[in-house]
Amino acid sequence: MKAWNLLKLSENPVLSEVNDPQLWDNNHIMADISHSALNHRDVWIIKGKYPSIKLPCVLGSDASVLTGSGKYIINPGLEWGDEESFQSDSFHILGMPGQGTFAEKIVVPENSLFEVPDHLTMAEAAAIPLAGVTAYRALIKRAGAKQGDKVLITGAGGGVSLWAVQFALALGCEVYVTSGKEAKIEKALALGVAGGVCTIENDWHKSLLQKSGGFDIIIDSIMGNTFPQLIKICNAGAKICFYGASAGNTQDFSPHIIFWRQISLLGSTMGSPEDFSEMMAFIKQNKIKPVIDRVYSFSQLPDALERMQTSAQFGKIILEH
Ligand SMILES: NC(=O)c1ccc[n+]([C@@H]2O[C@H](COP(=O)([O-])OP(=O)(O)OC[C@H]3O[C@@H](n4cnc5c(N)ncnc54)[C@H](OP(=O)(O)O)[C@@H]3O)[C@@H](O)[C@H]2O)c1
Repeated sequence: MKAWNLLKLSENPVLSEVNDPQLWDNNHIMADISHSALNHRDVWIIKGKYPSIKLPCVLGSDASVLTGSGKYIINPGLEWGDEESFQSDSFHILGMPGQGTFAEKIVVPENSLFEVPDHLTMAEAAAIPLAGVTAYRALIKRAGAKQGDKVLITGAGGGVSLWAVQFALALGCEVYVTSGKEAKIEKALALGVAGGVCTIENDWHKSLLQKSGGFDIIIDSIMGNTFPQLIKICNAGAKICFYGASAGNTQDFSPHIIFWRQISLLGSTMGSPEDFSEMMAFIKQNKIKPVIDRVYSFSQLPDALERMQTSAQFGKIILEH
């Protein structure tokens, strides 16, 4: 089969002929990949900024697939374990070290397959898995978002961020966003968020505070030097849940505000099979359609990666296989 093989760090994967995956027991199933989607994880691995990288490898954690029995998406979080509150030591993610979805076929555990919701195309379904479950767990399971909460979601153009925006809107939260690009704020407003600010503005956090009156929940993946400002715009008792640190480590934030205003800092990573299953039910019940930035053909992976590396996207970037 054809697959995008990552041979060297800091270089794009190479489209090559590789052996078909082998079906090794009855608990696994071979599937033809219809569409895959990019995640920032793929970019971090190519850049060598991810733990325990093993080369060569076929990246890609998201896919909608066809099997003899129907249309499915794959839960890319494998071997979560028995504990709901954290993953086991054997937890791993589809696409490095095992074969990922930037390929024609894949072999996965049968219990990782979930039926494609009727209201979604195969391209839309491929946008769900990694980003969807990360947003669902962070916003709903960890931060406990509910109707009426004032919620801030940072980096509005991101795949996970936009799922969080859509889940929060479906819950009836008052949603605000930040972005490094003004045009993305406009697009978020069109989705139904109450307001947003561009973080290149001076004192962007003050303008957010003025618009919103303060936040009950903040869902962040940027950290770096924006995090200290997030603490200043929390309501008393607020929760900040973060699942990434795209802008790196953070420093110089005030611990005093955190303890005096009873703010909770929560870390979150992907989600359990239970989270995945609940997320699918939530998407079906609310007929949520993912925000798709662009659909590229399978052969255009380098262009798709370039778009993600430059943060040009608004929503999920999809490959049609
Ligand atoms: N722990 C987990 O389970 C988990 C799961 C998924 C993702 N993550 C992490 O979460 C982050 C987002 O993932 P994703 O797949 O949603 O990525 P993505 O689709 O590439 O979106 C990231 C967004 O964050 C903003 N951004 C990116 N780099 C930035 C920087 N240096 N400084 C400030 N803003 C920046 C951009 O938004 P604007 O252009 O709107 O500003 C960009 O669109 C990544 O770091 C990823 O590794 C963690």
